[in-house]
Amino acid sequence: MNAELLQGRRIAPSILASDFARLGAQVQEVMDAGARVIHVDVMDGHFVPPISIGALIVDALNEQVHDAGGWLDVHLMIDRPEQSLADYAKAGADSISVHVEATPHIHYALKAVREEGCKAGLALNPGTPASAIEGLEDSFDMVLCMTVNPGWGGQPYIEASNAKISALRERLPEGTPLEVDGGVDMESAGPAADAGATLFVAGSSLFGKPDLTAAYAELAGLLDAD
Ligand code: DX5
Ligand code: ZN
Repeated sequence: MNAELLQGRRIAPSILASDFARLGAQVQEVMDAGARVIHVDVMDGHFVPPISIGALIVDALNEQVHDAGGWLDVHLMIDRPEQSLADYAKAGADSISVHVEATPHIHYALKAVREEGCKAGLALNPGTPASAIEGLEDSFDMVLCMTVNPGWGGQPYIEASNAKISALRERLPEGTPLEVDGGVDMESAGPAADAGATLFVAGSSLFGKPDLTAAYAELAGLLDAD
């Protein structure tokens, strides 16, 4: 695990928007383009309506991503994440983000992520205020700010997120990675970066484009990111 990958500005391609019939090739393409943090969206059909993918897919990418010096960033959009997060750690996750809205035991869940040897992310839905991180500052390594409602790729960026990103940045210990997730594209990424985001999840703005390599280069250029 190379935690330096979470420092500075970086794009985290979300495989939710990829062609799952060619998942390995798509991940290779985006890593060849320069990506190192691969974002994996897990949905359980309860916390969010859709069911997406689980630990089997993390395990399937484990070797490929780590052999290329990469990082598996797992975003659990599941109820009671503390009950199954160990499966994701064992499958090769480097960071695991858990939603504050998904459990009455968020402190315990974050602690459990760290005990599994992973970096702990605290994820917030759009309706959850920045103040939700209060009292948890010692328990997470990063914050994931949802900039769309979780559950689906391809939604437009919620503009009000920028004020929340600024509020989070003010509250966060210096150097804490702040990940934005949802609707990140050539229009929304710049203002999100100005507000203090450092890690940019991008699904459809990369995998939805005919030329993935060019789309990655364009977004990385805009953000001066890796
Ligand atoms: C949404 C997921 C996102 C999603 C983003 O619930 O958490 O990671 O893949 O997709 P885009 O970039 O298409 O909004
Ligand atoms: Zn996500």
